[in-house]
Amino acid sequence: MVRTTSILPALLGLAAASPTPGLLSTLLSNAKGFNSPFSSTSAGGKASCVSGTVAVKASAQNTKLLLSNPPSQYNDTEIFVEFLQPTSGIQAAVNGGKTTVSGTYNINAKLCFPASVSSTSSISTVHFLIHGINFDQLYWDIPSSNGVSYSYLDAAASAGYATFSFDRLGTGFSDHPDPIQTVQSALEVEIAHQMIQSLRSGSIGGTAFSHVVGIGHSYGSIQSIGLANKYPSDLDAIILQGFTINTANLGTTIADFNPTIASNNAPLRFGSLPSGYNVINSAIGDQTAFYRFPNFDTSLFNTLDGKKQTFTLGEIFTLTEPVAPAAAYTGPVDIVNGQNDFIFCSSDCTGENEMVQPALFPAAAAGSTNYYAPGTGHALNAHKTAKDTYAQMIKFSKDNGF
Ligand SMILES: *[C@@H]1O[C@H](CO)[C@@H](O)[C@H](O)[C@H]1NC(C)=O
Repeated sequence: MVRTTSILPALLGLAAASPTPGLLSTLLSNAKGFNSPFSSTSAGGKASCVSGTVAVKASAQNTKLLLSNPPSQYNDTEIFVEFLQPTSGIQAAVNGGKTTVSGTYNINAKLCFPASVSSTSSISTVHFLIHGINFDQLYWDIPSSNGVSYSYLDAAASAGYATFSFDRLGTGFSDHPDPIQTVQSALEVEIAHQMIQSLRSGSIGGTAFSHVVGIGHSYGSIQSIGLANKYPSDLDAIILQGFTINTANLGTTIADFNPTIASNNAPLRFGSLPSGYNVINSAIGDQTAFYRFPNFDTSLFNTLDGKKQTFTLGEIFTLTEPVAPAAAYTGPVDIVNGQNDFIFCSSDCTGENEMVQPALFPAAAAGSTNYYAPGTGHALNAHKTAKDTYAQMIKFSKDNGF
């Protein structure tokens, strides 16, 4: 999907955000690699950003799935019923082996720099942000609510970091290709890899970053693990939010989602999507999996639930595929979970953080650490503890020299 934005509102947008004059000219020149670039800011204005579409060429070994778009909600629901039936054999039955998928995919992205700097060339580290299921890049730039700031883009900019956030393939304003054969874990990891290479070379944004800190949330953390495994030097440091190796509650979680054909659930938003695109059925399912009451702002919850994003049948059948020990990754790892994460801890994360690094990052650097956000559910950034969570994430990045 291409957004048409004339350059005039783009310039006006930059003027409204009042970055320093030097940064304004640098940002305009740093729209390199973006199609239809326009200026934007973070929720709290601490970051000045270039937004737009980047065309990412990628190729991956996806799984040929012997499934088609469900003709009705009955068929869709039956796929999930059998997915959750341990003896159904559906996973093996639909697995048609590996197949190469390639293309150029339009990814909606946002590259931000601290609004306070006069030149982007002084910034050498970018935080590369991969959101999880049910969200798009808004997860990293949640608007303030009732006087509380929730934006990671603001927190990172205040600490002197550039950030790169994007809508994963099949979400937000990025392309929405075949939800069964194309939008799968393997291709999404390759797209992330290509964008990291472009940030390091300067072909996205024009600043050749020397350090990339990979920060994922949930399914985004699974993709960071896939990167560390396949491309161990892509990320200098890794922060995994909303992830443990405890998969005991994943079935319960999928049942809680009540997966619903997106075009039926929210036709105004998703009416044009094939039925392999699903969403969480209700706000109650969203709360159950992602939130811990009363540690979130209910009006913010309703705003975010109204912006819920899709997931695909292709993602469900390849969900944990990238998870394998990243033996060659030698950077530090920070494991960050809500103490009451429903999805990866059955709502009690005690002792879970400490299991991740030994199991998946056996050669991780000594600066590795972990953090439990008290009274917090799976969507850490949407809880009242976000400020403290961000302080820990930024301290980890700085302690490790990035
Ligand atoms: C949908 O369900 C009907 C009834 O079981 C079945 O005959 C049909 O093959 C299903 N279609 C798909 C595409 O799965």
